[in-house]
Amino acid sequence: MTEVTTTAGASGKIILFGEHAVVYNRPAIAVPVTEVGATATVTDRSVGNGCLIIAHDLQREFLLSTAAEDDALALIVRLTLAELGLSADPDWRIEVRSTIPIASGLGSGAAVSTAIVRAIHRHVGRAASPDVVSALVYRSEEVHHGTPSGIDNTVIAYERPVWFVRGEPIRSFVPAQPFLIAIADSGIASPTRQAVGDVRRAWQAQTAQYEAWFDEVGEIVHAARRAIEDGNVAQLGPLMDANQRLLSQIGVSCRELDLLIDVARAAGAAGAKLSGGGRGGNLIAAVDEKTAAAVADALTAAGAKRVIVTEVKNEE
Ligand code: MEV
Repeated sequence: MTEVTTTAGASGKIILFGEHAVVYNRPAIAVPVTEVGATATVTDRSVGNGCLIIAHDLQREFLLSTAAEDDALALIVRLTLAELGLSADPDWRIEVRSTIPIASGLGSGAAVSTAIVRAIHRHVGRAASPDVVSALVYRSEEVHHGTPSGIDNTVIAYERPVWFVRGEPIRSFVPAQPFLIAIADSGIASPTRQAVGDVRRAWQAQTAQYEAWFDEVGEIVHAARRAIEDGNVAQLGPLMDANQRLLSQIGVSCRELDLLIDVARAAGAAGAKLSGGGRGGNLIAAVDEKTAAAVADALTAAGAKRVIVTEVKNEE
């Protein structure tokens, strides 16, 4: 039998402004990061024991029929098969690869799930609209993140900058001019679920205080959108600093992130903040053509595990 193989991919993402507050219905801004990504390959096979899933980066290889209910990879495969009305255990090999560090704020889980949803759709000749992809990936994120806002699956499924408010229709937007950000990995793995759960407990204990901080984050996110849409990118640095001060108060920064953020600022970044769940993972810094290299070098010298300089493009 000729092996029929289908591949699909998905990029990573980074939150520019508004993480955590977005879980409590404030807006957030996120953009795709095409320098990193995940791919999934579906291949027909005729072994007769159903769907074999191989996750190369996780050194995992298992049959779908033996996977636990809440196994992240098995779950998204099952959800997609059900959505398409396909056999619950087709004779396929699904291989997954990713260049996105896990638990770092770059959306590794949502990107892997998106690649799988797209590859299965393509394999059976069905279109995977961003709406369908995003909804399926959200359902798998729910099992793993507890109370995800939905921003990760949205920006990765739509592959464009998004202005995200929970429960509202997706709005993408186009920057008036392109701008650069440096993304640095602290090397500390920090599962989003943990940070989101801790914030929820703190919010339950001090609701008025946390609501006030989330309101302040919301104002910063509105200001950032105006700055991006008007081409006033010089304002993004100070807005990142203001967002970072609030993230520290909310309790999701950590010593290592604070140190790298100071290093980025000292090396010429106009501002910097953690990105994603916090307590580790990535930070972002507002840079330009003149400062990008010095900031990236300084972050690497200070212990960042990987630095990516990415351009947020001004294209539809
Ligand atoms: C995680 O990438 C962003 C958080 O705001 C959680 C979420 O939005 O689901 C921390």
